[in-house]
Amino acid sequence: MVIKPKIRGFICTTAHPEGCAESVRRKIEYVKQQTQPAQGPKKVLVLGASQGFGLSTRIVSTFGSNADTLGVFFEKPSMKGRPASGGWYMSAAFEAEAAKAGRYAKSINGDAFSNEIKAKAIQAIKDDLGQVDLVVYSLAAPRRTHPESGETFSSTLKPREEVYSNKTVNSQTGEVSNITLDIASPQEIADTVAVMGGEDWKMWTHALQEAGVLADNCINIAYSYLGPEVTHPIYKGGTIGAAKRDLEATALELDTEMKKSGGRAFVSVNKALVTQASSAIPVIPLYISLLYRTMKEKGVHEGCIEQIQRLFTEHMYAETIPVDESGRIRVDDWELREDVQDGVKAAWVDVKTENFKTLADYDGYQDDFLGLFGFGFDNVNYDAEVDPDVTIKGLID
Ligand code: NAI
Repeated sequence: MVIKPKIRGFICTTAHPEGCAESVRRKIEYVKQQTQPAQGPKKVLVLGASQGFGLSTRIVSTFGSNADTLGVFFEKPSMKGRPASGGWYMSAAFEAEAAKAGRYAKSINGDAFSNEIKAKAIQAIKDDLGQVDLVVYSLAAPRRTHPESGETFSSTLKPREEVYSNKTVNSQTGEVSNITLDIASPQEIADTVAVMGGEDWKMWTHALQEAGVLADNCINIAYSYLGPEVTHPIYKGGTIGAAKRDLEATALELDTEMKKSGGRAFVSVNKALVTQASSAIPVIPLYISLLYRTMKEKGVHEGCIEQIQRLFTEHMYAETIPVDESGRIRVDDWELREDVQDGVKAAWVDVKTENFKTLADYDGYQDDFLGLFGFGFDNVNYDAEVDPDVTIKGLID
């Protein structure tokens, strides 16, 4: 079939296998050109491995440090002749490239919040890897069914303190409008923390520890976000911010536990980037479009792969691991630089539909968004027939 992008709101319901493979290859090529840490990870478990920061972490581990990886994700295979999801094709392409490089790469497709998938991952580590020396928690999910109570929680994206009005953009059309978001109820805050807070990370860590599959020096890392003042009401001061603070508190708890056997647990605060997760948050796509423009002008723009490469070389696998006053690794340092934020703030005041495409990096946003689904690569023929049914070779049943 010929596969073209079909965009509905902030998602694209189609994905292109060859475009996704091209996206993965470009990330691998970037990593191969970089200087790598003397001692990187050797055996890695990535939770949320098919897209965004998780996929980049898998690529940096494999092609920077020659690590073997087990990836867990929740993606759709091709069914009834329809294309699979972008993360499915990305994972298939990643595994094919890892195999060519002689590296172990297997994957589990299912709900990482469930006990079943945790048990499956532990069994795979026991069978194939023995132990892992890096665990990466990079899940971004809209809901979670609690494995013990069976209750399903949905996350919301709302402010916690007061009704919030600000500019937002329809990232497809470039139309800038005002949005008003009501305050979240206590239940909505608690539910968002249940989905995106630290409980599931802790459950994973304890299950892995109890099974004896964490190496003594294991690093256990989860990804977080803080952002600048302009987005505080919707992010840091919002429901998702409450979940992230819970995740960060969990990191401190897990760090104390893991230090007992020579390991460490951290949160890394990363930069705002176009991913499926971030495109769903109101106001954030406008912020990201203005941020991209400013950071590109200043020569400090990074994508997921550049962020994770820097995280590995300058932080996680540096001689000492630099952290902030709250014990967090910070690779959002360039995003939060004063001159960068001044640039964003100035543009924010002026931005409207008429000037959005000049003040913001509309094209950069579009490129990254389409790239998530394998579209927009100049060396892929999107008019050609392509088989949507692609197998992930190392998928564990
Ligand atoms: P993403 O949407 O690109 O990837 C999410 C991953 O989670 C995918 O691999 C998906 O398959 C997997 N997943 C979702 N639900 C799952 C489930 N129930 N079971 C198994 N796998 C599941 O997300 P992104 O943006 O890379 O986010 C990863 C982490 O990084 C999140 O914690 C996010 O808050 C954080 N972060 C994101 C930033 C951004 O601007 N995108 C900035 C800083 C941190």
